[in-house]
Amino acid sequence: MYICSCRALTDKDIGNAIKDGADCPSKIYKSCGSKPDCGRCIQRILIMLKEHRQNAIQP
Ligand code: FES
Repeated sequence: MYICSCRALTDKDIGNAIKDGADCPSKIYKSCGSKPDCGRCIQRILIMLKEHRQNAIQP
């Protein structure tokens, strides 16, 4: 599923960037070899980061 339609980044692309250590949207874009355009996807990316952090602290 596309999260960023401007840069054609999928949830898998962003998830992989997060797993590789990207901890903010700018690092995620950089990890994907891209940079933001309109910014509409930032909120969704922040939610993915929050979910990742919550999953990381669960036993
Ligand atoms: S949807 Fe991601 S920068 Fe526009």
